[in-house]
This record gives sequence, C-alpha cells and structure tokens, in this order.
Amino acid sequence: MPAISIIGLQWGDEGKGKIVDLLAQKADYVVRYHGGNNAGHTVVVGTKKHFFHLIPSGIFHKNTKAVISNGVILDLEVLSKEMDILEKEGINLLYKLCISPRCHLILPYHKGLDEAYENARGNNLLGTTKRGIGPAYSDKVSYNGLRVYDILDWKDFINKFTFQAKIKNKILKTFGVKAINIYKELEKLKKLRRRILPFVKDTYKVINEAANKRKNILFEGAHGIMLDLDWSPYPFATGSNTVVGSINTGSGLPVNKLNSVVGVVKAFTSRVGGGPLPTELKGRIADAIREKGGEYGTTTGRPRRIGWLDLEAVRFSCLINNVNEIVITKLDILSGLLDIKVCIGYKLNGQKVSYSECGYKELSKIKPVYKSFTGWIDDISHVRNFSDLPQECRIFINFIGKYLGVKIKFVSVGAERNANIKV
Ligand code: IMP
Repeated sequence: MPAISIIGLQWGDEGKGKIVDLLAQKADYVVRYHGGNNAGHTVVVGTKKHFFHLIPSGIFHKNTKAVISNGVILDLEVLSKEMDILEKEGINLLYKLCISPRCHLILPYHKGLDEAYENARGNNLLGTTKRGIGPAYSDKVSYNGLRVYDILDWKDFINKFTFQAKIKNKILKTFGVKAINIYKELEKLKKLRRRILPFVKDTYKVINEAANKRKNILFEGAHGIMLDLDWSPYPFATGSNTVVGSINTGSGLPVNKLNSVVGVVKAFTSRVGGGPLPTELKGRIADAIREKGGEYGTTTGRPRRIGWLDLEAVRFSCLINNVNEIVITKLDILSGLLDIKVCIGYKLNGQKVSYSECGYKELSKIKPVYKSFTGWIDDISHVRNFSDLPQECRIFINFIGKYLGVKIKFVSVGAERNANIKV
C-alpha cells in the first residue's frame, strides 16, 4: 500500500467488490469517491452474500474504516438501508463510517427525471439504472444540487427542496411522469437526515491525515473506465468520471499522493444497458457464460450482455490510468470452452483503428481482430497455485499480461475470499 486505487478497466461489473474486500484486509481506510447507488458490489463472507451499492466494500474487516467522500452522490434511503444491514451484522458504524457534507443528494425528483428522459428516448434508450444518477449530477453542475451540507440546516433545506421540487414537478408533468408529493418526501427526508447526521464529517481531513501518517488507504472505483463521462463512447456513459483522476476531485487526496493503481479485468466482457460492445457474443456461448458467471446486474437484475475479452479497450484503460498491476477475475467461468477468443485490435472499413479514435457510431461498426486460444476442460475453481493450472490457461493468462505490458497481481477463480492464484 499505502494509497492504492482499484478500478474496473471494462464496462463495470468486473468483480471489484471481491478484490477491494480482499485487499482491504490490510487497509486502514476504504474510500468511495464517485458515482452513486448505480454501482453494485457483492461481497461473500463465509457462506453469506452481501450486496451493497454505496457502502465501501471493506467495511467487514475489523480495523478498516469506510469513507464516503465528496464525489459520491447519495440516495439517503438506500444508504440508510445498507447501514441497517451492517448494524444487524454487529458492525459498529459510528466507529467505522464517515460521510462528507459535500456529497450531493439524489432526491426523489431525480429518479423521476431519469425515468422520464429514458421513456422519452424511445428506441434510443441509454439503458440507465434509473437511480437518478445523470439528473443528480446535472443538478450539481448547474448549481441546482442539494448536498448533505444543506440538510444540516433543516429549515433552510425545506425552502431549497421545495423550490427545486416545484420546478422538477413541472418538468415531470410535461413528460407525463408522476410528480412527487413534496410534503411526504420532506417527511421521509427528515427521518433519513436524523439517521445520517452522526456520520457527517470532513472526509477530506480524514483522508489527508491518514495519507500523511502513511496509513493504508484503498480507493474503491465504481463502474468501469469504459463508462467514464469523458472517455466512454458518449452518451453511453455514466454521470461521473470513473478514471483515477477523480480520486483527487472526489476525495481531496492530492494526485501525487496516490502510490499505485490496480486495474480489475474480467476474463471476458460484460455490459448492461445500451451502447456499443465491440466483442459482443450472441447465442449459446454468451448464454452459457452469463448463466455460469451469474451475469445479471447487482443493481437492476438485468441480464448482462456478454462478449469476449476486449484487450484493445482494456489497453486504453491501462494507458490513461497508468495501471501498475492488474487482477484477472472470473477465469473459472471460461473453463469448458473449446475455443476462447481475445480481441487484440479493431478494423473499420478494412483499416486498423484504435479505441480512442472511435465514437459510438464507429465502435458499433468496427470488426474486432481476434486471437484464438485453445480452452481448458477442467474446473479450475479449486486451484490455488499457478503451476497447477492447465497449460492452456497459463498461456491465456500470460498473453494478457504481455499484451497489456502490465504485471498480473493475481487471478481470481471464484467468489470466495481465498479463491485466488498468485501469478
Ligand atoms: P446510470 O449510471 O444509471 O446513469 O446509467 C448509465 C449507464 O451506465 C447504463 O448503461 C448503466 O447500465 C451503466 N452503469 C452504471 N453503473 C454501472 C455499474 O456499476 N456497472 C455496470 N454498468 C453500470
């Protein structure tokens, strides 16, 4: 350690939750610094599976504290439910959790607006999670957002919320979406306010003091680099910057205090929602991978689209984030396939093109250039030593590391905490 970033290098759902949870064993702090409850991560502790959207993944470790810093947008209802679950599990949140007053709030009208815009797009649906992410971030940018800071002064909040809600209700009605009941929503928010007030703290200070003391800090990236607001094939993006740079804006850690970037790469590709997916597979292989890998959205339950590993895209992710090490996840899901493909470049109208040269229209048309690998038959989920893996599997892993020019930290072959192989 001490200050490490963990980011997903694809379209999200790379299995970061498990990796953060694992590395958090040695962490003093785990920080969520962007996005909202559109993210979802699964952590398996013993025989129990936990699903979280906002609370950082390392919270289950005895000495690890969880920080929700300013870049995160908060749906207080979702947050409060996750807090209830953790308290039921015996976790002392007052000792463990702090929340920045600078976090913007996802308010009921944001969810309505998300739905209204999606409905209006008809066939050009973006496929958002409908959690109000885009509308909440756009309020932030247009100075119409309300923050945790605003709920500290409740009387003032009532005025600000009512002003915003009245405007938003007019828009919702125009779209034919149900307006929110301002009075009822304020009652709900009042209760939620009471629930979170004890946790509000200047997280910037917590993080910087920890960094100055050389404490171990993990920055838990949400979604994936291919959904970044600037670096995705826009508009098929999420509302936040998913690149490492947003650690600075979203938490206040100075850029040069980050020590290392660990990228998480799933052994194949998945995506939920619309937008181009150059290596997308349809039919039997995709269905088999989806079922075996449980590739259904943690947040929405939607079946994920499946494709071969796209190293052209992942190489770009490594480049703009200066990834130092990668972890390959869900390798066990590919066991049993006779032939495994990996995309090593794109062609458009017969010409070589790179990921960064393509907008969403080009990416929808490009032809992936594939390299084929012989698959392996045996189940590898019980293997713990690299040398015990089938030779075909080792060849596949080594190729990925060599192609990306990045060291492979380890390979994950199952959801359990110990299902990992050091390379
Ligand atoms: P939004 O973030 O809900 O606005 O959705 C925008 C796009 O990002 C949609 O295609 C979502 O499916 C996708 N998305 C957002 N968060 C995640 C995630 O954590 N994993 C995978 N896809 C995501």
